[in-house]
Amino acid sequence: AEIGIVIPAAGQGKRMGAEGNKQFLSLKGQPILVHTVRVFQMSDCVSEIVIVGAENDLALIEDLVSRYNLDKVARICQGGVQRQDSVRLGVLALSPTIQRVVVHDGARPLLTLKDFHHFLQAAEGFSAAIMGIPVKDTIKQTNSSGSVTDTLPRERLRAVQTPQIFDRQTLETVHLRAASNGYYGTDDASLLEWMGYPVQVIEGSQENIKVTTPEDLWLAERILTMRET
Ligand code: CTP
Ligand code: MG
Repeated sequence: AEIGIVIPAAGQGKRMGAEGNKQFLSLKGQPILVHTVRVFQMSDCVSEIVIVGAENDLALIEDLVSRYNLDKVARICQGGVQRQDSVRLGVLALSPTIQRVVVHDGARPLLTLKDFHHFLQAAEGFSAAIMGIPVKDTIKQTNSSGSVTDTLPRERLRAVQTPQIFDRQTLETVHLRAASNGYYGTDDASLLEWMGYPVQVIEGSQENIKVTTPEDLWLAERILTMRET
């Protein structure tokens, strides 16, 4: 099946506290977003990439795409208020020939080609599959005043990341349904869960962090340095 990639990159990066969008911050001399897109540019499994950006960033993204020869980027489209809106707009911008869609955060620059290909292979046969890792901490549920109401069984908990892969038709359906119902989930898979579709978790890598706060940027630099040697 032809695989298309949607990269939501239209956030504001508020928790990073930098001026402008965190995805243009430099990681080992290149913008975070370039690291993110390059994995898919390099993969023989990918036929097209759609980047979703904020209105004010579209020109800059276009510059990066041409400067770094990211020629699988077929479209750069404008995002929405929430991540979910951005992903929906990106999915709708994919070519009609695309049958499988991978959604991957613009702010996750440390996914390796090897891990991506392992993920694709493990996801075969599932209409929806997502990358996740076992949690290290014990997770407790609390009430609004901070009192513990439950301790969740850790062996079965997974911290979920991107990439997430879906049959295109299903992903489009759930996104349109969620939009018309005003339903928001915290990731794309949760929209399928909301409509009763099965979702498979595939074990990913601890290194596939999302650059969210300044210490993540530091950690990302360290991980890339470690990979060089
Ligand atoms: N994103 C998006 N459109 C939005 C909000 C987020 O495309 N309206 C993207 C971000 O650019 C990021 C990914 O979704 O690549 C994951 O979101 P997050 O890490 O929360 O990034 P931001 O929303 O930019 O950061 P913050 O929440 O700290 O403002
Ligand atoms: Mg956000």
